[in-house]
Amino acid sequence: MSDTPLGWVMALAIAIQFLSCDSTDLNRDKETLAIEQKVDSLLSLMTLEEKVGQLNHLKANYSTDIYKQNAHLPGIIKEGLVGALSPRSDIAGLIALQKIAVDSSRLRIPLFYAQDIVHGYRTIFPIPLGQACSWDMQAIEKAERVAAVETSAAGISLTFAPVFDITRDARWGRAMEAAGEDPYLTSQIAKARIRGFQGNDLSQPNTVIACAKHYVGYGAVEAGMEYNVVDMSERYLRQIHLPPFKAAVEEGMGSIMNSFNTIGGVPATSDPLILNQILKTEWAFDGFTISDAHSIDELVQHGVAVDFKEAAYRAFTAGSDTDLWGQVYSAHLPELVREGKIREAEVNESVRRVLRYKYKLGLFDDPYRYLNQKRFEEQIFTEDNRKAALDIATKSIVLLKNKEQLLPISKTKYKRIALIGNLGDSRARKDLMGNWSPFGRHEDIITVNQGLEKLLGPDQSLTHVMGCEHWGECTNTTMKEAEQLAKNSDLLILPLGEQGWDSGECSSRTDITLPGNQEELITRLGRTGKPIILLVFAGRAQVLTDIVDKVDAIMYCWQPGTMAGEAIANLVYGRNVPSAKLTVTLPYRVGQAPIYYAKLNTSRPRQGPDDKRWGVNKWSDAPNEPLFPFGYGLSYTTFEYSDMKIDKSSITFEDTLNISVTVTNKGNYDASEIIQLYLRDKVATVSRPIKELVGFDRVFIKTGESKKVMFQLTIDDLKYWDQNMAFEVEDGEFEVFVGKNSSDLLKDSFKLVDYRPSY
Ligand code: BGC
Repeated sequence: MSDTPLGWVMALAIAIQFLSCDSTDLNRDKETLAIEQKVDSLLSLMTLEEKVGQLNHLKANYSTDIYKQNAHLPGIIKEGLVGALSPRSDIAGLIALQKIAVDSSRLRIPLFYAQDIVHGYRTIFPIPLGQACSWDMQAIEKAERVAAVETSAAGISLTFAPVFDITRDARWGRAMEAAGEDPYLTSQIAKARIRGFQGNDLSQPNTVIACAKHYVGYGAVEAGMEYNVVDMSERYLRQIHLPPFKAAVEEGMGSIMNSFNTIGGVPATSDPLILNQILKTEWAFDGFTISDAHSIDELVQHGVAVDFKEAAYRAFTAGSDTDLWGQVYSAHLPELVREGKIREAEVNESVRRVLRYKYKLGLFDDPYRYLNQKRFEEQIFTEDNRKAALDIATKSIVLLKNKEQLLPISKTKYKRIALIGNLGDSRARKDLMGNWSPFGRHEDIITVNQGLEKLLGPDQSLTHVMGCEHWGECTNTTMKEAEQLAKNSDLLILPLGEQGWDSGECSSRTDITLPGNQEELITRLGRTGKPIILLVFAGRAQVLTDIVDKVDAIMYCWQPGTMAGEAIANLVYGRNVPSAKLTVTLPYRVGQAPIYYAKLNTSRPRQGPDDKRWGVNKWSDAPNEPLFPFGYGLSYTTFEYSDMKIDKSSITFEDTLNISVTVTNKGNYDASEIIQLYLRDKVATVSRPIKELVGFDRVFIKTGESKKVMFQLTIDDLKYWDQNMAFEVEDGEFEVFVGKNSSDLLKDSFKLVDYRPSY
């Protein structure tokens, strides 16, 4: 019909009719149906080139004067050859480009605008790895809500976030972007983040489409080396790396980004198993996939395509819907369709996915809904947004050591405080805000120096020296200056660790101790005998083994964001009590990597740290244990766990097992405790981890108070990918553990009966 002028007009009339229907009176199903009809109607009007245009995502930098830069852009938008843009532009520039799309292109299809908003737009939240250590799903959801409000107010409708890569190797620089080593915790966080970005109604003007990434397995790159290869079984993929993405799909996530890596030699971008089969068929994902930047044209570099045309063919037929920045779909998909290598119906299917979300977002109703200068001025970096950032920053900082309760510091005992370290007053944008903070501003940062100074007691003084130059290089001169200051001080606070560029994309490291010669600085300052509080800034787990005994207290701050200094000062002075717990294992030596608590037992397990026998699963030159285990984190108070109970010694497939434990605050501070529940399937058809997180609760307990904390497990919590690749479980014994971290746990056991015999 769309090939004749009459047919064209009729189809347009149908499209207009659908476009004008008032969806507020319709229930959700009707809305969905209406959207599908609108999409069909629009598709019937589109030329093949226009369809492929919707799969073309371009990068560009613009100002209002768009014709001066990127002179070709208005022309191709006008021809309908662009579906989405990642622009750096003010609102006026974005309006100008959208106007071309909706006023001058034949079918008036609005553009998506997309950016990486990984931990905040202008109000920068702690890096996601830090946020995860809060184990606070409400605070995480709130962080993404604030990010969504700011992002949408800046004209962006699609964000390349959140990141759900499971990372068990701290050498990988992108550990900072995700939630750590555990699939269960990452899945809970996935749901919270998708809710935060997308809300429960995408058509609200303050929501953005989330894009979970990187799909999939990227966190398992060999040797933690960036862009390296991955090889793993389908079982591990399904058991460890896929669950957070599945959880995000179930939460309604609109898009997903391919990862750069291969899995078993097949690049994720051209892998039909993970795209067509698992994502689109098994999980019935209704959104669209986005390649990673150039990951389609890079199939040539991977050596699985002879040229860009074959790359386009491989990616598209595997299930990759849109091409980020590579323009190989634009260049080759129409030709591939005309040659009969790809069916136009398949192209329609991918375009349908993109258009569906343009409708869901309400862009057809109002293409300018995100482009409002007043909103931009009113809703970004507000006091409430900063409060949310402060809240989660405080909850993300992990107290690892606190000898003789040095923290919180006494205002009367420690009068002269020395702040020694190049991160003490750093305003380099990424140092305290972290690597994915492109719209953060260095002038917004509350530095450690500022934060501490604000809370000084009347008789206290604070003096800052660098101790080291940038990149952790401490010269004899800077160290001597620091020693001199230390000698004349009562307390030393050392803000050290990684700078912003030391982690993030393309920042893998083989040595994950504190960069440069910061350890030497610590050793020299330790000799002064003054009490030392070490503040570690990092985008990954660092190895602290050689300095842990040289300091009195350690706070692992990650990169806390805009409100860094205030959050740290509040903890140092006891205005807030630390509650965070590690979501990655902190290795004893880098050679232990990958290291994680949920290991398999192996055929020759070591019987505890004192087992020195030959022939057991151990290192010869280091302990098996990490320096600090997953789930570890101290408080200023002490929590005692007692009275663990399970209500049944055996369950059937229809039962619920209730587990309870009493947690008592024995110390002097009201505080929150993160209570963790782990499980072990003792015998299964495949070897199962010695423990796996299956639940947690963050509970506020007043001093002297006891709280009974309840957990429930059903058969679904016991299932795993068995030897036949079924998600199942057999009868047998399970151990259940409750406690304060993955190695300090109370234990009980129960049996699953009358379900499936084990053989
Ligand atoms: C990164 C992605 C990011 C994309 C666009 C790529 O290099 O791997 O995470 O979304 O660039 O900025």
